[in-house]
Amino acid sequence: MHPPATRTTGHPDVLVIGGGIIGLVTAWRAAGRGLTVAVADPAPGGGAAYVAAGMLAAVTELHYGEQTLLGLNLASAGRYPRFIEELEEAGGQPTGYRRCGTLAVALDADDRAHLRELHTLQTRSGLDSQWLTGRECRRLEPMLAPGVRGGLRVDGDHQVDPRRLAHALLVACERAGVVFHRSRAERLTVDAGRATGAQLADGTRLSAGQTVLAAGSFSGRLAGVPEEVRPPVRPVKGQVLRLRLPDMPPGSPAFLSRTVRAVVRGGPLYLVPRESGELVVGATSEELGWDTTVTAGGVYELLRDAHELVPGITELPLVESCAGLRPGSPDNAPLLGPTELPGLHLATGHFRNGVLLTPVTGDVMAELLATGSLPDEARPFSPARFAAISEAARPRLLQEQPV
Ligand code: GLY
Repeated sequence: MHPPATRTTGHPDVLVIGGGIIGLVTAWRAAGRGLTVAVADPAPGGGAAYVAAGMLAAVTELHYGEQTLLGLNLASAGRYPRFIEELEEAGGQPTGYRRCGTLAVALDADDRAHLRELHTLQTRSGLDSQWLTGRECRRLEPMLAPGVRGGLRVDGDHQVDPRRLAHALLVACERAGVVFHRSRAERLTVDAGRATGAQLADGTRLSAGQTVLAAGSFSGRLAGVPEEVRPPVRPVKGQVLRLRLPDMPPGSPAFLSRTVRAVVRGGPLYLVPRESGELVVGATSEELGWDTTVTAGGVYELLRDAHELVPGITELPLVESCAGLRPGSPDNAPLLGPTELPGLHLATGHFRNGVLLTPVTGDVMAELLATGSLPDEARPFSPARFAAISEAARPRLLQEQPV
C-alpha cells in the first residue's frame, strides 16, 4: 500500500496533539485567549475520560507523598463551579456536574485502620473530612452493607460525567473556531531544533507555531519526539462497569445519594451514582501495557467487591463494561509546561486525576501558550523535573555500566 500523499494545511498558532479532555480544554482555553488552534485526533472527545467515573476526589484520593499534587488538585476542584458555568454557557451542553459529596467507608478492621490513617493525613493537611460510625454511614446511605465499620464523610468531593464533559468541550471548541483534524498524529516534526507541528496518518502535514502533546498515555510514544524530552508516561489499565439505577418513585430516597468509596482487599473501589440514572463501578488498576481487554476476572472482582459494599447492586441491570488507560507518570503528577525542545509543550501524565485537573490544566496551558510564561501554580509540575533527575542520574548510571 502506498503511504498517503503529503498535504500541507494552514498554520495555526497552536496544534494540540490529542483530543481527550486535556487536549480539548487546552484548545478551548487557548482559543479563548485569541490564538488560532487545531486539534489532531481520530476520535476527539474519547480517550481515558470515556471510561473514567468522573470523581472530583481531591480529599478522598489523597495519598502520602502527594502533598504538592494536593495543592493543584484543590485549586482545580475550587475552579470547577465557575468552569462548568462557563463551559455550559459556551457550548450549550450539560456536563453532569453534581455537588453530591463522597462517603468513604470501611468494611473490616483493616479498612478501618486504613481510613483512620487517611483521616489523620487529611486533617493534618487542613482538609474537611468527618469521621462517622458505621451506623451514621448507614443512616446517610441505607443501601450500604450492615457490616460497615465506619467511614469518612467528605462533602467537598463531587463528580462530573466525563463523557458529557468531553462532549461539552468538543462543542465549545468548535464554537470557538478550533479546527479538528480527525486523524492520528504519526510524527512530531522538528525543523532546525524547533517543534513545528505534526505529520498525520491521513497524509496531512500540520505546521504550527507551538505544539502541545496531550495524547494521554500515548504521549510517550509519538515518533519524532527527541528522547531527552519524551514524557515518561505509561498506561495503567482501569476496568469500569456501568449499571442502571432503578427508577425511584418521587419523594423516595435515592439508591445512593453520593459517591461511595471503599478499600476492599487492598484495592480502591468506588460507586458513582449519576442523576442520569447511571451507576459507575470502578476500577481496577493494572500495569499491563497497552492491553484494554475487559476480563471476566476484572468484572468479577468489581462486582464481588461492590456487592460486599452495597448488596443491592446485584439487582441492577449491568449495561456496560469497558477498560481505559490512565496516563501514569513516575510521581503520579501531571507534566505541564514547556520542554527543552523549543515550541513543544506537554499536558499529559494526569494519571488518576485527569477529570479533576481539567480546569486548572486549561488555565495554565492557555497562559503558557498566550504569554510564554508558565503560571507559578504549575511550576512544580514542569516536565523539567524529570529532565533534572535524568541529568543527575546520568553520570552515576554511566559509572554503573559494565565495561
Ligand atoms: N480516579 C479514579 C481512578 O483512577 O480510578
